[in-house]
Amino acid sequence: MVAKEIFLNQTTANRGADKKMVELSENFTLECDELDKDHERLVEMVNEITAKLEEGITENCEDTVRAFINFTKGHFNREEQFLIKLGYPDVSKHRKHHHELYEKMDHIMEFARSASANELARKSLKKELVFFLMDDVITTDLDFKSFIGGEKT
Ligand SMILES: [Fe+2]
Ligand SMILES: [Fe+2]
Repeated sequence: MVAKEIFLNQTTANRGADKKMVELSENFTLECDELDKDHERLVEMVNEITAKLEEGITENCEDTVRAFINFTKGHFNREEQFLIKLGYPDVSKHRKHHHELYEKMDHIMEFARSASANELARKSLKKELVFFLMDDVITTDLDFKSFIGGEKT
């Protein structure tokens, strides 16, 4: 997948400098303030969680991952409402995509619960969080970018 490759290159390039796992390039912005702010917050949350994991700090891991998942669900709702308001024709397809991610979020939560006791869970958590955010949450939103065309909320 192209997005994954672009993203991985960015990730690798970023890691040496400031240890941020994820950074959003302009290619991934929707030019919609409300949704872009949500995406930025999600990126921040993943960066905070992965930075702690890199340092081997697992206290609060479960809570911070739960907060990330709750914010993601809230974001999905806000995004769906926004698309409905705008009359986006494929809103049910995008909503279905969001709902299909609930199972993945359960798996991520499982890894978070095991993170303190298990090195493999920590590694899987980092990897799953990053791919979930970039591939499943942010890249798929590019489907409606041209439709919303810089809509401000
Ligand atoms: Fe989104
Ligand atoms: Fe979305």
